[in-house]
Amino acid sequence: MKTPSKKKSVVRLARKAKLASARPGKPDAALIDAEQFLLPTYKRQPVVMTHGRGAYVFDSTGKKYLDFLGRIAVNALGHAHPRIIKVIRREAARAIHLSNLYHNAYQGPLACKLAGWSGMDRIFFSNSGTEAIDGAMKLARLFGRKSEEAPGTVAKKYRFLALENSFHGRTFGAVSVTATEKYRLPFAPLIPGIEFVRFNDVADLEAKFDDSVCAILLETVQGEGGIYPVSEEFWNRARALATQRGALLIADEIQCGLGRTGRYFAYQKFSSKPDIVLIAKPLAAGLPLGAILTTGAVAARVSPGMHGTTFGGGPLACATALEFLQTIEDEKLLENIRVRGTELREGLAKLAAKFNFVREIRSEGLMIGVELSVEGAPFVSEAMQRGLLINCTHDFTLRFLPPFIITRAQVREFLRLLELVFATTPQQASASDSGTSADSNRVAHATAR
Ligand SMILES: Cc1ncc(COP(=O)(O)O)c(C=O)c1O
Repeated sequence: MKTPSKKKSVVRLARKAKLASARPGKPDAALIDAEQFLLPTYKRQPVVMTHGRGAYVFDSTGKKYLDFLGRIAVNALGHAHPRIIKVIRREAARAIHLSNLYHNAYQGPLACKLAGWSGMDRIFFSNSGTEAIDGAMKLARLFGRKSEEAPGTVAKKYRFLALENSFHGRTFGAVSVTATEKYRLPFAPLIPGIEFVRFNDVADLEAKFDDSVCAILLETVQGEGGIYPVSEEFWNRARALATQRGALLIADEIQCGLGRTGRYFAYQKFSSKPDIVLIAKPLAAGLPLGAILTTGAVAARVSPGMHGTTFGGGPLACATALEFLQTIEDEKLLENIRVRGTELREGLAKLAAKFNFVREIRSEGLMIGVELSVEGAPFVSEAMQRGLLINCTHDFTLRFLPPFIITRAQVREFLRLLELVFATTPQQASASDSGTSADSNRVAHATAR
């Protein structure tokens, strides 16, 4: 219960921590309640974000930020896009939820559109990325099970291969195929039969891929891991081995898909397709929606009742997702992503020449990682002070995921702000001083490339 004395102590704490206030000296009530009542799952910045417009967001004090994180790749059309607002208003007034026991007007057309973009045949809608991962793992087990293997027995093909440095989500299936130990180890025992392959290491892949594998699951471009694209050689070998062994190749495109890399899907730079593609984040422009896209062969193993969801694929989210995809086409945003991505890469290369703590720039379209030799967190805080939202992943990699609608002027504004941030932030521990350094991460990637 919220007792007055408890509330007072939280107010004191909030003041001590100099938390953002709607009025000077008065901590924001929403923030105080959050500190007291939320599970402490995030190290949140002490601000209350209230609204956004285009590539900018505003906090409760009215401060404006250039959003180069896109709410971690979700707000691909920025904030308050007029087409999205229009659809949400229209649909909210018609029906927010209609059960999956019936058809709604948008699920089928959205599935058709996604099939066209991806080259897949059948779609299942979930509420989030992690649920799409878990659903795909179920499909892989289903696909691997031979007709003579009775349900309830351990199928011969039951193992999953995933990649080192991967991130796939927080539910039990997804966390089991996520390599980063801090996300998985507290929850052991995890799903059995999962093995991690060294990133882009074809020899390791070949050594671990036997007939007991039902699927290899990979992010086409690792996001949380620090923007690392899977190599063409690795992809081709994974495809060939999956086909030879009767296993599935599953591409997690939850962060890198739906235009982010300048293609509809990141795997479209390769000549072969996966068996399953997973998407979420930007799909419904900020409303929760994920999807499993798969082939007819996989879909043929599914029968009613095997999988399902209450909320997934609701009319509001599906209508919004259709509008999102149509907007990407109508506004030629893939082209904008490629052009702005190149401008950013060139601008960042100039900064790298000025600041010797910039080690490497990795990017595909508007998915950009800048690896530093010093810790990234102080740069994130300094950027926020200066009205720029960025993120740091794996301690040493700054990650930029700007919205697809950014303009040339906003790219320039970003580069100018970042230069100031680089010039003024006091530098902390270097990568080589740290036990969990980018060095170990980087070596693992570099040797495998
Ligand atoms: C590549 C990737 N897969 C899966 C997920 C999990 O998605 P969600 O947070 O929607 O469950 C994420 C989220 O960051 C992700 O980046």
